[in-house]
Amino acid sequence: METQTPSAVGVKTKQRVAGPIIMLGPPGAGKGTQAKLLAETLGIPQISTGDILRDNVARKTELGVKAKDVMGRGDLVPDELVCDMVADRLLQADCARGFILDGFPRTVRQAEWLDAQLGKMREGKDEEGQKACAAPVVIALVVEYNHLLQRLTGRRSCPTCGLIYNVYYQPPKVPGICDVDGTTLVARPDDAEEVIAERLKAYERLTLPLVAYYGERGRLIEVNGDQSVEAVTAQMFRALENVNRM
Ligand code: AP5
Repeated sequence: METQTPSAVGVKTKQRVAGPIIMLGPPGAGKGTQAKLLAETLGIPQISTGDILRDNVARKTELGVKAKDVMGRGDLVPDELVCDMVADRLLQADCARGFILDGFPRTVRQAEWLDAQLGKMREGKDEEGQKACAAPVVIALVVEYNHLLQRLTGRRSCPTCGLIYNVYYQPPKVPGICDVDGTTLVARPDDAEEVIAERLKAYERLTLPLVAYYGERGRLIEVNGDQSVEAVTAQMFRALENVNRM
């Protein structure tokens, strides 16, 4: 079978309505890494609730002040705050052909809210507009628990361009420096081992039930996240082609 690279696929997909895609998986599963590749290929935005929250923390906004300690402990930010934040983001013009939710929803209440919100967004829209906010396709990245710790403790990111590296699996050419713009790479405060343990517990308790939620609704695609980044991307793209999202 002929395999197309994401960039080759992207040439023909950037103009099409892709609709909502959700990246689901535990901390360190590779949601952000794969969401960026998907966003670039499909020409729709990656909406990372973690990134938006971290930006609010850095700017010391009202939301950031409320979220800071919760995130620092590895707990989830209250549903109401996150849902309001996502509602605002989905109104922006770049979501008109679809969007990739990275790290949202994370609780059953958030998933129910999203279903209702997408329903409201479809009201009064033409066929293309309705497709842009159709029922989401959910890509669940499955990664063995023991591998997550190494991925998270080894993660470094570029504060300028957002590129994600890993000192073990995806090191930059010069240690500690972004290949693209030369910025010094940083580690996330919540990638400390004791906080990672709490994040993984929160995932098991509050987010894992979403696998059943979306599975029962026939929207779940499981992808083996325990492969190279390129192999995960290829499996994800094949799965999306099958549901006609590309
Ligand atoms: P968030 O930023 O969403 O963090 P997370 O879900 O814990 O996920 P991560 O960003 O840690 O991992 P990832 O799956 O994106 O992996 P990545 O691609 O970076 O949330 C942070 C906090 O914000 C939460 O704890 C919570 O407090 C709050 N929050 C956010 N959303 C919320 C919500 N909806 N409700 C309530 N609270 C919310 O990859 C990880 C590493 O692995 C990288 O170094 C990467 O290079 C490497 N890697 C990736 N793929 C591979 C591969 N295939 N092989 C080897 N290495 C790989």
